[in-house]
Amino acid sequence: MLKNLNLLTANTILNGKNKWYLIAAILIVLGCQPSSDKNPFNPKTSVIPMPTLLEKKEEFFEAKFLNTKDDFKIREFELFKKQLKNYFPKKTIFSKSTSSKNFEIKIDETIDEDASFYELSIGQESIVVKGGKKGVFYGLQTLFQLIVLNYDSISNSIRLPCLEIKDQNSFEHRGFLMDCCRHFFSVKTIKKYIDLLALYKMNVLHWHLTEDQGWRIEIDKYPKLNTVGSWREDSTGKYGGFYTKKEIREIVKYAKERYIEVIPEIELPGHSQAAIASYPFLSCESKQIQVANSWGVFKDIYCAGNDSVFIFLEDIFQEITELFPSNRIHIGGDEAPKFRWENCEKCQKRMAQENLKDEHELQSYFIERIAKDLEKKNRSIIGWDEIIESKINSDVTIQSWRGFSGGIQAVKEGKKTIMSPTSHCYFDYDINSIDLEKVYTFNPIPSEIDSLESELIIGGECNLWSERIPSEKELDRKTFPRLLAMSEVLWTYRKDKFENFQNRVEDHYPILSRLDVHYGIESSPVRLSSKINNRKIKAVVNSKIKNLEFTYQWNNEEAKPIKKNGEIEIAKSGELTLQAYKNGKKYGDQKVEKFAVHLGLNSNIDYQYMYSLSYPAEGLSSLTNGRLGSLDFKDGQWQGFSGKNLDVIISLDSLTSINKVSMNFYQYINSWIVVPSYISITSSMDSVNWEIIKSLDSIGEIRKRGQFISSISFDSLETDAKYLKIFAKNYGKLPSWHEAAGAESWLFIDEIIVE
Ligand code: ACM
Ligand code: ZN
Repeated sequence: MLKNLNLLTANTILNGKNKWYLIAAILIVLGCQPSSDKNPFNPKTSVIPMPTLLEKKEEFFEAKFLNTKDDFKIREFELFKKQLKNYFPKKTIFSKSTSSKNFEIKIDETIDEDASFYELSIGQESIVVKGGKKGVFYGLQTLFQLIVLNYDSISNSIRLPCLEIKDQNSFEHRGFLMDCCRHFFSVKTIKKYIDLLALYKMNVLHWHLTEDQGWRIEIDKYPKLNTVGSWREDSTGKYGGFYTKKEIREIVKYAKERYIEVIPEIELPGHSQAAIASYPFLSCESKQIQVANSWGVFKDIYCAGNDSVFIFLEDIFQEITELFPSNRIHIGGDEAPKFRWENCEKCQKRMAQENLKDEHELQSYFIERIAKDLEKKNRSIIGWDEIIESKINSDVTIQSWRGFSGGIQAVKEGKKTIMSPTSHCYFDYDINSIDLEKVYTFNPIPSEIDSLESELIIGGECNLWSERIPSEKELDRKTFPRLLAMSEVLWTYRKDKFENFQNRVEDHYPILSRLDVHYGIESSPVRLSSKINNRKIKAVVNSKIKNLEFTYQWNNEEAKPIKKNGEIEIAKSGELTLQAYKNGKKYGDQKVEKFAVHLGLNSNIDYQYMYSLSYPAEGLSSLTNGRLGSLDFKDGQWQGFSGKNLDVIISLDSLTSINKVSMNFYQYINSWIVVPSYISITSSMDSVNWEIIKSLDSIGEIRKRGQFISSISFDSLETDAKYLKIFAKNYGKLPSWHEAAGAESWLFIDEIIVE
């Protein structure tokens, strides 16, 4: 984190006596003068990411062309001209004039070439961009935004509000992870993204290039990686592809010119099934397997006991480091099931020889060996937070994805950290779970970190895993507008009021459309909360999006408009369908939710084992809130327990005659979510004497694929109770035939229904 350093640098670079910028406030002086009566000028300064300091003046700049005396002869200017030409193909923006000059770039050779600092000054007669070359590049991106936000197409003139900007980055690592393995994206798409990243001052393209489902880089020494490993047979037929070395060099150069570092990710020891399908000797069993054609985590990983595997990887990294100049190489390290290693003679022998106490230490051995090889090649490594589950001595940067905790641990161990927790940074997740505001509230520096330690948090990334991103359009929809929030978090860090940010985002939609971006929505149009009163549920509909209207439909009844207060009373079990409208037209998808009105509504629940904070649903009230989960297990109603049983006591209001208890469990074996293997219900009148009233064995269908809800019902109970204990046994470790054999399974439940 550069913040402290930044102020110092800014202090030195700027006029040290000038104190106004230290106030860290944006001075926006509203008001402008109309350029003509017919064509009033509403100057926009909606730059994203918001500049560190921006002082807007009352006057404005207006000109037909940007006049330059000489051509500056720097690439940054050439790219800027090209950018404007692409945006306004039919207009002339620049002209050469020896007599008058209204546009100037001043390269300050004394500024460190890594510094992103720039000044942009727009006066009535002239525009000046000043900084080192990199700063000038960013200054020109800001100017590009101002020009396209304010260009007057009627008079064909460049109009800009007069202003002074002094700006620089907060975090040094502002990353975007693109997964070209689950789905393959063309060079053209990647270049489009590099342009967009540069426009929003992001500076790292984390390029995920090897996976279970496909190997995507040309490798000379191991050609089968491309003839076999780059292709999979799935429901669409043969799917795949790879980038040739020529294409990779072209992308790396294209990115570098735009101050974007391309960091390749070569996954190990897990997520390596495509490599193993190409060269079976790389795995513990040395058996021929296929390139994966479904999503998930797979147990066939590189063998840690076979030296040939390390020779293979050293060869791979030889070719990788020839292609990618980045100082850092991402080596993955996440989601490596240990099942094969536990059952492999070679791996066990390695553990004995190296005195490693378990397979986690064997994973560290693996990572350290690769880190040492890359050190010889003058590179350091980045790895996902799993790699510090056991001790790592090498110089590694940790990318924290399983929440913030891995990153906090890394920082406490003195390691550099990139924050990309699933809670805020997984743009492949649906907008219902991570909306624009959620991303905008992302703080890469958790409160557990003190200011000295925070220097080790070098930035953040948004991750676009592409299992469910089959096309460029879907990539656009998932990335935008959320990327704008990420860019502002990482560049500016200081937050604007969300509403102000939203207004600036609104100004960027026409720009994005013009740049062929099929952006998605900012948040789910329909949000539902609920209250319970007198055994009735009051559902309350609201939205973060302004000026929407809603209808609701109860079961198959006719759809009706929702009352102004958004409330719908639910007195019996059934299904509610909600639809938002904007200007009379449907807006977004409908939302369907099932409700259960029952005797246990709002009852207190005591947990023997707490639910996972990754899947809390609505917390302590969730299992008796009357709201049922859908087929989307991230919908906020499914409560998850990883490797733990559900063991809870429900306290009913009073002694109650109970006839039936039912509940739903979720199964999606690819995501390790499994229906419990055993369930029992015990009742009590006083919470002292308990009586088992029913139990059920062998309910699961462990081998069943796909996502489904399994409803379990205990009928004809005819019992009086005030307390009910529900026990559902977690399936346990995933069985040997499963791709992720040995991993802890999850148990998911949405409600305990008492009737
Ligand atoms: C990850 O999302 N498995 C890093
Ligand atoms: Zn092995």
